[in-house]
Amino acid sequence: MATAHPGAAPAAGRTSRSTRLSGGTMTALAATAALLIVFTTDQVLPATSDHQAQLRIWLGSRAAGFMALLLLTFQVIVGLVLSHPTNKSTWRLSKRLFPWHEHAWVFTIAFGAVHVVSIAMDHFAKVGVIGVLVPGLSEFRTVPVALGTLSMYALLITGLTARMTRLLPAGWWLKLHRLSLVVLGLAWMHGMLSGTDTFDAMAIYGSTFVGVAIAAAYRYWVFRSGRPTFSSSLAEEASR
Ligand code: HEM
Repeated sequence: MATAHPGAAPAAGRTSRSTRLSGGTMTALAATAALLIVFTTDQVLPATSDHQAQLRIWLGSRAAGFMALLLLTFQVIVGLVLSHPTNKSTWRLSKRLFPWHEHAWVFTIAFGAVHVVSIAMDHFAKVGVIGVLVPGLSEFRTVPVALGTLSMYALLITGLTARMTRLLPAGWWLKLHRLSLVVLGLAWMHGMLSGTDTFDAMAIYGSTFVGVAIAAAYRYWVFRSGRPTFSSSLAEEASR
């Protein structure tokens, strides 16, 4: 039998599924709303030159790229807290944190979609639809953009398989889910190498890197060293 997601909240006490929008619907709605906002901005505040009009979609794409990166970082850090050995024994934050981890994916995908669709629509970016979909076919910064495409596909795989645990052989979803750190690494490298003003955005790249590095190191250090946690030490005390 497939392993259930460890952080999944019990069905009881949750809002009925029928009253909630599915992840796919929310993603489509959020992406449509974001594209509509870019379009509406142009109607309300029309660009005063062709150059300004062209910049608008490019700036929108860049902003969405940064949002996707920040959301992905948040999601990975929350995931590392959920799977931290001390969380299972002592912190017990899963019930509170799991919905954030689960729903952040929808927004990451939505901002990622806006980033990708708008960069494909921007003729000056020299990426194009094929350059977006096939790694290595972008005229603009071929390798850095290919990293972005790969991270997008890997993000879809890790997110979708976490929602289809019952369709996969036991334990597979978790192995695939651990690719999330690779997804983030690829997206991070992609942003650093293909972004236009990387130096000005160093605060974002630096803080996301340090945040994930600390969370991952702490999680793996405690796991590997098998350090006693607060409650496991209590059990040991009691058995003496
Ligand atoms: C099919 C997938 C993707 C493609 C084709 C793509 C394409 C691009 C391009 C062409 C740029 C350079 C924009 C510029 O001229 O400054 C860029 C920048 C960026 N992308 Fe992506 N991207 C993809 C996926 C992603 C994903 C999944 C993330 C994050 C989760 C992301 C985050 C960023 C960031 C943070 C920047 C830097 C913005 C800047 O400094 O200008 N991208 N992307």
